[in-house]
Amino acid sequence: MLAARAASLLGRRAFSTSAAQNAAKVAVLGAAGGIGQPLSLLLKANPKVTELSLYDVVNTPGVTADLSHINTSSKVSGFTPENDGLRAALDGCDVVVIPAGVPRKPGMTRDDLFKINAGIVRDLAQACAETCPKANILIISNPVNSTVPIASEVFKKAGVYDPKRIFGVTTLDCVRASRFIYEKSGNLVDVPVVGGHAGITIIPLFSQVEGLKLSNEERDALTYRVQFGGDEVVKAKAGTGSATLSMAYAGARFTDSILRATQGEDVLEWAFVRNDLYANEGVNYFSTYVRLGPEGVKEVLPLPDSISDYEKDLVAKALVELQKTEKKGVEFATSA
Ligand code: NAD
Ligand code: LMR
Repeated sequence: MLAARAASLLGRRAFSTSAAQNAAKVAVLGAAGGIGQPLSLLLKANPKVTELSLYDVVNTPGVTADLSHINTSSKVSGFTPENDGLRAALDGCDVVVIPAGVPRKPGMTRDDLFKINAGIVRDLAQACAETCPKANILIISNPVNSTVPIASEVFKKAGVYDPKRIFGVTTLDCVRASRFIYEKSGNLVDVPVVGGHAGITIIPLFSQVEGLKLSNEERDALTYRVQFGGDEVVKAKAGTGSATLSMAYAGARFTDSILRATQGEDVLEWAFVRNDLYANEGVNYFSTYVRLGPEGVKEVLPLPDSISDYEKDLVAKALVELQKTEKKGVEFATSA
């Protein structure tokens, strides 16, 4: 009953508590923030999480005390930088989710966050590389198109890089595209979204949704709305932040997918990962359909040949941008 309620919070299949056979320790870095709090709540409600480790530079004790009263079986521990708290938080983790960093204000691009968030992600990745090098690292902090290359370079430098285990979380783009199509058609379907996670690098593949018929005008408007859905929220929040609740939902879904794969399920998700699909164009990270397994990414699937000419053109434009933002991240991480 409890597990069913918890699973329904995630909108996914119910599992009995006894189905959580494998222990899974999940850390949230930035746990007291706008995303961190609701994400931690959803993870506390997920029966596959047996231990939840919360880290933030401020306010973690309160969030931890609050969540620890929820009557699911997972243990919750909270950490701040005092007493080497980051390393204590990461010790023995299977999954580390990173929403630490500053969000956008109206008028900013995600790349404008680089100045502050690049260093935050670099330092957190360094601690992960030293403390839990085999964990799956799920990066939410923007600009994802650069923070994933940064974390990857940190792991490389530390000699523990496994490209199968570092993910940029782009699930919110898929969630948005699915919702926007639902508003139009009344059908709740998965919509593939590939590329990256910023403006024109976000590419919804509406051609791949079975039975969906859109006029060119509808396709253009929906594509724009998915690409700039984040801006809609930033504008509506009027200077107080960006998407937090929908992101927590998306982050909880992606973490659940990783845990299901760890426990032996065959799981497919879209994610921004290292791959060779566009390496010839100087792009080494690209969000695509990935098959997940116990060791992280099991298979990277290329875009279907049947994508439309319109979508091929969007991919070409995205690659130019992705090449620049990847380079910026790599240069930052390798220059220190
Ligand atoms: P927020 O400011 O509400 O929370 C961020 C939290 O990070 C704060 O609690 C802060 O104390 C903490 N923090 C800062 N530096 C830290 C450090 N060194 N170690 C640990 N914690 C630290 O911001 P938010 O709304 O939760 O957004 C967080 C990030 O997620 C932003 O960069 C935002 O752009 C990004 N984001 C990404 C997506 C996506 O789809 N990938 C969606 C929404 C937001
Ligand atoms: C989003 O897509 O909502 C996030 O990347 C946050 C933002 O800055 O738009």
